[in-house]
Amino acid sequence: MNHPVEPGIAIARAAQAFADYATNTAARIDVNAEAARQQNGARVGISRAHESAYLHVAGEATYVDDIPELNGTLHCALGLSPVATGRLTALSLDAIRQMPDVVTVITAADIPGVNDCGSIIHDDPILCDGEIRYVGQPLFAVIAKTRAAARRAAAQAKAAAVIEASGDPVLTPREAHARGQYVLPPMHLDRSTNGGAREAIDAAPRRLKGTLDVGGQEQFYLEGQISYAIPKEGGAVHVHCSTQHPSEMQHLVAHALGIQSHAVHVECRRMGGGFGGKESQSALFACVASVAACKLQRPVKLRLDRDDDFMITGRRHCFWYEYEVGYDEEGRILGAEITMVSRAGHSADLSGPVMTRALCHFDNAYWLPDVSMHGFCGKTNTQSNTAFRGFGGPQGAIAMENIMESIATELGCDALDVRRANFYGTTEHNVTPYEQKVTDNVIHELVGELEQTSDYRARRAAIAAFNAASPVLKRGMSLTPLKFGISFNVAHFNQAGALVHVYSDGSILVNHGGTEMGQGLNTKVAQVVAHELGVSFDSVRVTATDTTKVANTSATAASTGADLNGKAAQDAARQIRERLAECAARRHGGDAAGVRFANGQVTVNGKSLEFAQLVREAYVDRVQLWSDGFYATPGLHWDGAKMKGHPFFYFAYGAAVSEVVVDTLTGEWKLLRADVLHDVGRSLNPAVDVGQVEGAFIQGMGWLTTEELVWHPQSGKLMTHAPSTYKIPTANDCPPVFNVRLFVGENPEDSIHKSKAVGEPPLLLPFSVFFAIRDAVSAAGEHGASPQLRAPATSEAILNAIEAVQAAAA
Ligand code: MTE
Ligand code: MOS
Repeated sequence: MNHPVEPGIAIARAAQAFADYATNTAARIDVNAEAARQQNGARVGISRAHESAYLHVAGEATYVDDIPELNGTLHCALGLSPVATGRLTALSLDAIRQMPDVVTVITAADIPGVNDCGSIIHDDPILCDGEIRYVGQPLFAVIAKTRAAARRAAAQAKAAAVIEASGDPVLTPREAHARGQYVLPPMHLDRSTNGGAREAIDAAPRRLKGTLDVGGQEQFYLEGQISYAIPKEGGAVHVHCSTQHPSEMQHLVAHALGIQSHAVHVECRRMGGGFGGKESQSALFACVASVAACKLQRPVKLRLDRDDDFMITGRRHCFWYEYEVGYDEEGRILGAEITMVSRAGHSADLSGPVMTRALCHFDNAYWLPDVSMHGFCGKTNTQSNTAFRGFGGPQGAIAMENIMESIATELGCDALDVRRANFYGTTEHNVTPYEQKVTDNVIHELVGELEQTSDYRARRAAIAAFNAASPVLKRGMSLTPLKFGISFNVAHFNQAGALVHVYSDGSILVNHGGTEMGQGLNTKVAQVVAHELGVSFDSVRVTATDTTKVANTSATAASTGADLNGKAAQDAARQIRERLAECAARRHGGDAAGVRFANGQVTVNGKSLEFAQLVREAYVDRVQLWSDGFYATPGLHWDGAKMKGHPFFYFAYGAAVSEVVVDTLTGEWKLLRADVLHDVGRSLNPAVDVGQVEGAFIQGMGWLTTEELVWHPQSGKLMTHAPSTYKIPTANDCPPVFNVRLFVGENPEDSIHKSKAVGEPPLLLPFSVFFAIRDAVSAAGEHGASPQLRAPATSEAILNAIEAVQAAAA
């Protein structure tokens, strides 16, 4: 990435902060066990550095903007709407066309195919078709000789666009809900064990009602959205795109150009982060760059500036909730009803699946006998919201955790006890609201272990003593559990393909349908292939995701990357191994089934030869040394209309305890300590998995504490569109004590080497930070009232909540 490196103090401090907690890595990962496994020839279950770690750190990893530009490359910038609602009646572009180095300007009329880049529902114009939907909507694209010239020209959008502004922008989910304005029909998920939610709530000994606001979150991938389109002969195009979903980019570019998919080649070696933001929303840029490249027959690059990225693309949906629960004296929930309204933005994008996942994660780790849930995707004059790590799961589960804390306040007991009273059972009380049975529940053991290792009860007592003696500084603590369903809710997305080549020198090249965004997918897939063929990790190379190599791939999303593509690559490698074993037995005698592959050696009929030697022999014997592989997750079904079925292959579990101190006069706070125990089954790569857990924890903490999005109430303009006004966490925000461990266990399902997905589930761990802050706020009111704390818990939000609990106590 060509971003300037800020010298000096910030980086030194960041390095120090990371070094501080990296020193206890050995304690979190069983280094000896790994060494023993490696000795035995295992290539999975071993901590390996990310396959590109060196290239990342040295600045040598090639991102799209680092690809050497072809001669004649032009640059594109988008002209954005200055208003939130109205009609674009004309564009007077002559002045822009006259600006220095401008080659041409493209509008919706120049799109030869369909002017739409909607991923599921086709309600998403690439360039404005007349209806203005939000501030920042792309109206036209300037193509110029330099990026600076294109951006200067595109900045003239306000002067060029003739707009009839009309109406006030609808900005919040509640406003949209009040107007009955949605991007999709409402969704309902009900389950009745004892007569339904309403009856169960009415009959319960205790009841509680409330509302909650949870804000959205910008993905803030370090590499912004980018596409580089190169025209090819016969009307074809080759697009280098930073995307989690190359196949969808291929389809949408083909639609926009009005050509067949076989004429569109999409390639992605890696992303500098995606976090869900490049699942569907890379499409607009891929389409514009491709339309321009094909029209001009010149390579065209479109790389967004950070502010434009904020202004144009969507992010995590903010949610508003209204709930009522009935419960008993032990805090057990008997009935629950909840309405969730999300800020979908101007179009559907992935709002439907995000809401589905939110509804399917309201239960989190708890059995809800009678429940009624209603999901509304509010249509607003804002960027179209999309996937973000957790994909609605966090938004569903946080509402339940808020209820758990509120019940504990009402009953005057420890929130952990309320949570435990509600956990899914193992033999009974184990059916989810969507009727999937939970058969792999480890939450009891996991939380029990964390309670011990974090010294929960003793610290709880110490916090009470501290607070009794401290009028201004208040401490708070919370333990929150998580259960997260793994698989796409749409069954047919749960498939993957791979292509493995063994070259005659014994080196191996792997392609699979997943994309690398920093999460270590390619590292894990290379480990799986190395393990299957019994060779060293270094002899396996995983290359760019490429629609000409593996077709019809699913998005790398829903944390399924390693599960799906690992299995597909294993399938391909196994076929090659079996052919090699037959060849070895033919040449050297013995039984093919007895041939062993480990540590770069092949053992056959009591003889040992090098893997590369056998490969050469197999080549001479005309054995096919490459193979495709395929995988489809078994046993999944989902009825979207009834919202029932078996949408998840299995569940991942985890829990965290966080302790904070809050200054009740300023609303400032600090995370003092966090203890995490997270279930990744039998880890494919413990170091990578711990990295995912830590990264998700800090990222989720940012969402719930400092990352605040503000749209101007009149103009509808997003005011927080750069790091100057939008605060993501830094290394300095890591707690001084951060104990992250992987839960010892294995996936009972036949997942890849019994591992579990890790990408998204740990994003729910920092609920513990938010509820620890809430606990400290509660202490400021002597635990007399449930704090009405909104997320993000900015200092302002904390002060508002403290004022309210203190007023209630007075
Ligand atoms: N980790 C890094 N470093 N960068 C990312 O962009 N995306 C997350 C997670 N971890 C992301 C990441 C999201 S949203 C998902 S769905 C998963 O990785 C996707 O990868 P996987 O399925 O291979 O885990
Ligand atoms: Mo992740 S939000 O499923 O890309």
